[in-house]
Amino acid sequence: PGDFSLTGRAAAKVLILGAGVTGLACAYELGKAGYDCTVIEARDRVGGRCLTLRGGDRFTEIGDEQQVVRFGEGGYFNAGPARIAQWMVTMDYCRELGVPVEVFINDNAQAYVYTRGMKAPIRAAAYRADMYGYLSELLAKATNAGALNRRLTRADRQVLLDFLAEFGDLDRRTYDYGGSDRRGYATPPGVQPGKMLGPVPSVSEVLGYDLPRALTKTASQEQAAPMFQMVGGMDGLVRAFAERIGEDRILTRTKVTRIDTLPDRVDVTCEGPDGTVVHTADYCIATLPPHLIARIPGNLGAPVVSALTAAQPTPAGKIAIEYDRRWWELEDKIFGGSTETDLDITRIWYPSYGFFGERGILIGYYTIGSAKDTFTPLPHRERHRRALTQGKKIHGEKYRTGVLSSASVAWTRQPYIEGAWATFTDPGVLATLRRPAGRVYFAGDWLTNLNAWIAGSLESARTVVTDLHRRVLSQ
Ligand code: PHE
Repeated sequence: PGDFSLTGRAAAKVLILGAGVTGLACAYELGKAGYDCTVIEARDRVGGRCLTLRGGDRFTEIGDEQQVVRFGEGGYFNAGPARIAQWMVTMDYCRELGVPVEVFINDNAQAYVYTRGMKAPIRAAAYRADMYGYLSELLAKATNAGALNRRLTRADRQVLLDFLAEFGDLDRRTYDYGGSDRRGYATPPGVQPGKMLGPVPSVSEVLGYDLPRALTKTASQEQAAPMFQMVGGMDGLVRAFAERIGEDRILTRTKVTRIDTLPDRVDVTCEGPDGTVVHTADYCIATLPPHLIARIPGNLGAPVVSALTAAQPTPAGKIAIEYDRRWWELEDKIFGGSTETDLDITRIWYPSYGFFGERGILIGYYTIGSAKDTFTPLPHRERHRRALTQGKKIHGEKYRTGVLSSASVAWTRQPYIEGAWATFTDPGVLATLRRPAGRVYFAGDWLTNLNAWIAGSLESARTVVTDLHRRVLSQ
């Protein structure tokens, strides 16, 4: 119910460039409507950025040595997308294709926050309790001092004060914030009452932490908890797509070297295991990263090429570190979620799967955007070393103990991808690329308002196959 499908069948031949989520979704949807699709992929596997790494996998980044992934049985690393919001179309495809999902713990007040303004890491719960407490105290006192008399009626002021007392856990008479059990316990409640974690820092100390994202990270609709992940790795969906499409229709290790759109057909020249082959079809959907399509010779035309060239690839990267025991669960009592920090690792993610297992894989950094991206330029060995040094500042010596192996990905250095996602500053450029160049259509998350989400790829795929199908049926 509610699943997407094209109305009416057609048999046109379509070449799809790129076997990432967009390309696979296009082939899947067109295939359901009778089209004859071939997917061309330069890498040796399908999925593109939707990459899950497991023991035995090998890959090489541009300018680095080969990495051999050594994770144990059942362990995996979602190097690209790792979380799904409930309202995203990704959930519909998981249901339609029978890909099981489970909760991804995006928010965990039990995880830490650590900034240079702190003597030691604190639990996110403590930061939140203290920040809400002091904000409430300040606002309540400003209200009582008459600062809001012109904005609010007396009745509204009373409602506000009552709300703030509750929101900040304030003293009901003085509106002072004097700490709260919400910070956590020094001694947890049991037979005896719990003892509040102290001492309570001053307002100025709390303001000095200066890491608002630790408190707002799940405020947006895109990041709102609970989020979900595919059981066993986020490549579950691309595997399901590939199975439905048929492996024989997907040509891996095949690089596009030329695109020519002609009055009656499209010619795509490829270098693959069988040498140079010119594939001919009625239409083409190019789902490669825009800045890479821009470099492919052909006749897309100067305005289109200049629009594609305007794409700005964003760097992002992660390292996955496998430990011989799940010390974050055993000692820190952290089950999933993330520690946010102003160190260059930005955050540490604890796994949302495999609880109580023997080994565990955590994400030692996840950097987004260009600011402070110290990891992208480093070879894997150095990323590993630096991640452990930084993580030790939060977790102590155990962070460097019992490390079994690691793997890291810097998306701007992934061959045939060269970016975590691409952005455009000029919306007019996107309008150009949302139209076909002759018989060549463009698709990808970069054409949507869900950039850097699987859902963006899926929405774009639906849009482009709808456009193409309408054109085919009208001819
Ligand atoms: N979708 C990615 C993530 O959830 C990248 C992203 C981060 C996109 C934050 C938007 C906002 O990590």
